[in-house]
Amino acid sequence: MVASPVVDSRFRLSEETAIQLASEFGTPLYVVSEEHFRSRIQRYRNAFKTAYSRGKISYASKANSTLALIKIAYQEGCSIDVASEGELRVALAAGVPADECHLHGNNKQAAELEFALTAGIGHIVADSFEELALLDGLMTPAQRSATKIVLRLAPGVDPITHAKMSTGQADTKFGFNIADGSAEKAAAKCLELKLNLYGFHCHVGSQLLDPEAQRSGGELIAAFAVDMKEKLGFAAEYLNVGGGLGVAYTADQQPMGVEDYCRLVVQSVIEALAGSGIDPILGQEPGRSLIAESGVTLYRVGVIKTVPAPEVGRRTYVAVDGGLSDNPRPALYGSKYTVERVAPNADPTGSQTVTVSGKHCETDKLFDAVELPSDLKAGDLLQVLCTGAYNASMASNYNRYPRPATALVRKDGSLCLIQRRDSWEEMLAREILPEGLI
Ligand code: LLP
Repeated sequence: MVASPVVDSRFRLSEETAIQLASEFGTPLYVVSEEHFRSRIQRYRNAFKTAYSRGKISYASKANSTLALIKIAYQEGCSIDVASEGELRVALAAGVPADECHLHGNNKQAAELEFALTAGIGHIVADSFEELALLDGLMTPAQRSATKIVLRLAPGVDPITHAKMSTGQADTKFGFNIADGSAEKAAAKCLELKLNLYGFHCHVGSQLLDPEAQRSGGELIAAFAVDMKEKLGFAAEYLNVGGGLGVAYTADQQPMGVEDYCRLVVQSVIEALAGSGIDPILGQEPGRSLIAESGVTLYRVGVIKTVPAPEVGRRTYVAVDGGLSDNPRPALYGSKYTVERVAPNADPTGSQTVTVSGKHCETDKLFDAVELPSDLKAGDLLQVLCTGAYNASMASNYNRYPRPATALVRKDGSLCLIQRRDSWEEMLAREILPEGLI
């Protein structure tokens, strides 16, 4: 059998557009393609609807909560998954009705629950017995009937991903454990408190290239729903299988096609529900798989130096004008990326293996062992692919670097900013020098 060719569907900039963006908006710069993002959402939504007519996609805004991107996700038919009051406020500012948002969090504060309830949030994904008690105390009678409660379950599935991105295993801070009986007690508690219990949720982990964990997560929460119908007489109206597929940070990472993925997950849920009379709306809330591949980060090359390196003989460091503060993922998770020079390689001697480093006060290997043209020089522009998710949303001001701007390549090819770079004024705006400090 001949293997089908792998299609690299990640967005990348042409040399001309990259040069224009860098000269108009500076570097480092996050860049997102509107067309790419919209078509990713459309493909995912169609795949899910085809697999299950009552399928509903939410955009997990933690992946990238830039206002304009949340607006695009909503325009394309997603409801919005928010993980904090801050993300909810941005979704509302983007014009998303509160009842099209749902709120996550393992330790929600009374103030954020009150904000969400007053705004009219669609549903709250409850995570602990303390939260159920808090909601019981906070809700007005009208809110008690209007606000749907979904229980986050820990199905005891251990996915293959970075430990910091696994959430569905039994030993987790998230949700109600099915195996130890907590989940059943939580469902009974909701009914006793007359909360508007709507259904069940699980999220087993992120950047999953093998969908087995999500498949079995879906199966387990569906089986739990059947159990709750038998034991408590509660028929779930809603099940949510959490985040989506992993993405291709490097060419060797090949996630399953979203059509096959949706069929697989839906099939596991349907089989587990068979004969139960439960016919729920089925939710998924992907973040990474909708936005990651639609974004790149542009950097400008500065210092290049080759040093003795015991492990590899000699190492060439290529320093760029950003790093840890705009992309903490290599340091946090050991993530690898695809790094390309925007200008094609005209050098007949080919490429060299280099370590791209940031400009922060860390001995970092931002992008280690990447192939770049051997005539690489200071001033060249590099684009790092697949940085649309968990880069802008996890950026910091470490070393007091301004967080980068985000530019959007519009559908018609025009370029605009959707988030400007931090200014020096706002860098100092929160500082307070107490009276009399010598
Ligand atoms: N739903 C819930 C409840 C989640 O916790 C997450 C991600 C998602 C949905 C979206 O998952 P996705 O489709 O994006 O895989 N900072 C890490 C990622 C942590 C994700 C945590 N939860 C990173 O940079 O990779």
